[in-house]
Amino acid sequence: MTEAKRSVPNRPLDLRELDEPFFAHILKRLDELIGREAISYLHPSKRWEYPWALERARLSPGSSILDAGCGASIFPVYLAELGHQVTGVDLSVPARLGNLHGVHIDYVNAGLTNLPFADESFDAVFCISVIEHLGYGGIPQALAELRRVTQPGGRLMITTDYFKDANAEIWYEGEGEPFRVDWNFFDEEHLRHYLLQAPGLTLEGELDLQVDWNTVQPQMRRFHGYPYTSVGITLIRT
Ligand SMILES: C[S@@+](CC[C@H](N)C(=O)[O-])C[C@H]1O[C@@H](n2cnc3c(N)ncnc32)[C@H](O)[C@@H]1O
Repeated sequence: MTEAKRSVPNRPLDLRELDEPFFAHILKRLDELIGREAISYLHPSKRWEYPWALERARLSPGSSILDAGCGASIFPVYLAELGHQVTGVDLSVPARLGNLHGVHIDYVNAGLTNLPFADESFDAVFCISVIEHLGYGGIPQALAELRRVTQPGGRLMITTDYFKDANAEIWYEGEGEPFRVDWNFFDEEHLRHYLLQAPGLTLEGELDLQVDWNTVQPQMRRFHGYPYTSVGITLIRT
């Protein structure tokens, strides 16, 4: 990557943005929050994804928000601190996380392909690093559900791991023995197929998927050196 991509709203991660005031301000607070507890953590990609998503969401005060596939993320806590009405949904939710931080979050145990919420319940939906875990087959139904529960005109901020070639053999290198990764990947072709053609959801603004795979940041090398990064896409519910 040779130049910052900040002017293009939908784009791969650029960790250099973390030093910009908007990102740095949010990250300072997120670091303070996770310093209080041992549940949440901030993977390098999340340090970019949360501020990117928040900037893209352009939330009105007191918005009704769904964090879809929230896990034990600190992001819903931060959103609740800002005064929004926050719901977190996941197959397994950290029900006490809001209390721990003195904020109210409605945590709901459910899968994204069958959400227990009324139509048009939320002004905005965040889905951060989740769709790669749904299996390709689950993505259309999950997107249909996320669309259903979003207000017309509402935004859906999606981030996912982004690879040079989704058909490559990819091994995970973390703690313990390396293993061949079995979750689904997105390269440009898969991203366009699964996200940009979803019925009733339209890309907001321009999209730049160019990545210099030779200079992807070292922090992002957890797949035996296989080049990957993260990408953020904003869809509008039509
Ligand atoms: C990589 S974690 C990301 C969690 C969180 N969004 C964050 O930023 O830290 C992926 C999450 O997706 C959730 N997930 C996977 N499949 C799901 C499904 N079908 N329905 C709901 N949540 C799912 C997992 O339980 C996990 O918490």
